[in-house]
Amino acid sequence: MDIRVLDASELGDEAVMREFYDLNRRSETFGREQAPFWPFEEFLGAYRTTDSGELQEPIVAYDGDRIVATATMWTPLVDNTDKAYFEVNVDPQRRRRGIGRALTGHLEQMARDRGRTLLMTGSHLPYADREDHAYCRFAEACGYELSNIEVVRYLDLPVPDECIQQWIDRAAPHHEGYTIETFVGAVPDDLVESLCALLGQLAVDAPTGSVDFEAEVITPERYAEWIEGVTAMRRVRYETVALTTDREVVAQSTLAMPLAGSEGASKDVYQWGTFVHRDHRGHHLGLATKAVNLRALQAARSDLTRIITQNAETNGFMVAINDTLGFYPVEVSADFVKRL
Ligand SMILES: CC(C)(COP(=O)(O)OP(=O)(O)OC[C@H]1O[C@@H](n2cnc3c(N)ncnc32)[C@H](O)[C@@H]1OP(=O)(O)O)[C@@H](O)C(=O)NCCC(=O)NCCS
Repeated sequence: MDIRVLDASELGDEAVMREFYDLNRRSETFGREQAPFWPFEEFLGAYRTTDSGELQEPIVAYDGDRIVATATMWTPLVDNTDKAYFEVNVDPQRRRRGIGRALTGHLEQMARDRGRTLLMTGSHLPYADREDHAYCRFAEACGYELSNIEVVRYLDLPVPDECIQQWIDRAAPHHEGYTIETFVGAVPDDLVESLCALLGQLAVDAPTGSVDFEAEVITPERYAEWIEGVTAMRRVRYETVALTTDREVVAQSTLAMPLAGSEGASKDVYQWGTFVHRDHRGHHLGLATKAVNLRALQAARSDLTRIITQNAETNGFMVAINDTLGFYPVEVSADFVKRL
């Protein structure tokens, strides 16, 4: 088996990228055929844009001239430099032949060569087999242990407007003095710095099981790269923020969705972060930003059919808000860790 990182010319090669994507699709939807999977155009956009804070490397395992497995490795460059994250996908028809183990060993060597000591990977699992699913056994066989469980939840759209209004009204008396504003795409320049500072704290405060994260360094330049990346994926971000009287961003909620009218686009919306700064909690800003964002989304788009979110099982506050909004649990997303 020949394992290597795709180079720039292969990244630009539609046929190679299609083969990579098709294998990922077969692997990730195997046994979960109803699960959302991003369209090829979104995948291409994500793999062809760069993030100066994190190296993203697509890796392929060839048997002859056929790709039998793929992997992607993400290496943080500025913060959390003890870590690397990866995902591995073996073509369902080629499993139980040692390919997954060999590819994982190769990724571990790449991480070691960069001085990384903590490797993380993850997998979607059905609720019922979360303890002993084949992917857990694979992780265990490779020396990984479970570090965190997140529950994936869906919310079917549309949500009745009167419900959204009720949640907004319920939160309002608790956040007097803050203003809530929604932006489609990038936030205005004067808000970027405090939004970046806030986003950088998310991984520190969100429950992440047995792995601790340091603050992420998110500069305005990096934020601009993220916005470019989302555009390259033909998606758009809806960002609802809570501002203090001197216009500092202290809470945020982000929804990402395909651009209106994109050909072959999915109907799914992804709930990305929702985060309230630790000095501004207790004002119902989580519920407020989420509900206002949802109202903005529904006012603009009637073509989208569900929102997908995931939260740590132990994140009681966030799960309570999601329960209020009507999200229902579907499956589990498990994180595994190995300390090299
Ligand atoms: C998990 C995955 C990568 C395994 O790939 P693979 O090539 O089949 O794995 P290997 O053949 O190298 O298996 C290595 C060991 O893992 C364990 N294992 C793998 N699949 C297993 C299964 N279905 N049931 C029980 N144990 C299993 C075994 O101990 C196996 O060693 P053995 O065959 O000598 O008993 C593959 O199933 C996959 O792509 N899954 C979807 C993506 C994913 O969830 N990846 C992350 C998993 S943490």
